[in-house]
Amino acid sequence: MIEIRNVKKGDLPQLVIIEQLCFTRAEAATKEAFEMRIQVIPDSFFVAVDEAGIVGLVNGPVIDGEYITDDLFRDIRANPESGGHQSILGLAVSPPFQNHGIASALLAHLEKDARVKKRETITLTCKQNLIGFYENSGYINMGISSSKHGGVSWYNMIKNILS
Ligand SMILES: CC(C)(COP(=O)(O)OP(=O)(O)OC[C@H]1O[C@@H](n2cnc3c(N)ncnc32)[C@H](O)[C@@H]1OP(=O)(O)O)[C@@H](O)C(=O)NCCC(=O)NCCS
Repeated sequence: MIEIRNVKKGDLPQLVIIEQLCFTRAEAATKEAFEMRIQVIPDSFFVAVDEAGIVGLVNGPVIDGEYITDDLFRDIRANPESGGHQSILGLAVSPPFQNHGIASALLAHLEKDARVKKRETITLTCKQNLIGFYENSGYINMGISSSKHGGVSWYNMIKNILS
């Protein structure tokens, strides 16, 4: 049974391992970045947990603008109580647990929470090969992002949720 809950301080070592298994060194969130996100935005940082521990994660701050900018990977502010755009800076599922619907469940959980808090959109960037994955969850491809994170090209994907 998979449970989705807000992140806790003690999750840090497992988060770092999953991130390193899922992303290149240049793309992976560092231990310090996770520490900051756990401290500043635990309300929009969710983990998927099974009997063995953490198997997936999704996180990101609420931002003023519609699109992700690279400064967010270094510096974030606490989330406003309502409004704004819910960004996703990281979505990752441990490789042995992929293709079991866990990322989709994490996205759905974040979206439900964002709707309650009257966020305007959920906004994220992804590589070309995952555009279809996000489109399946209702995201729209807004074209190439200004992000140079990890030295690769990213696409802006947005889902409007304020209706
Ligand atoms: C991308 C990722 C988060 C997906 O996690 P997951 O738990 O396997 O995803 P889900 O099981 O919810 O969904 C997988 C589904 O998407 C489909 N899918 C995967 N890539 C796809 C693509 N490029 N286009 C369309 N569908 C795609 C799969 O076939 C699967 O479909 P199914 O459920 O009908 O079998 C995971 O592969 C991962 O952690 N990758 C490495 C890190 C990463 O790239 N994160 C995203 C950063 S933007």
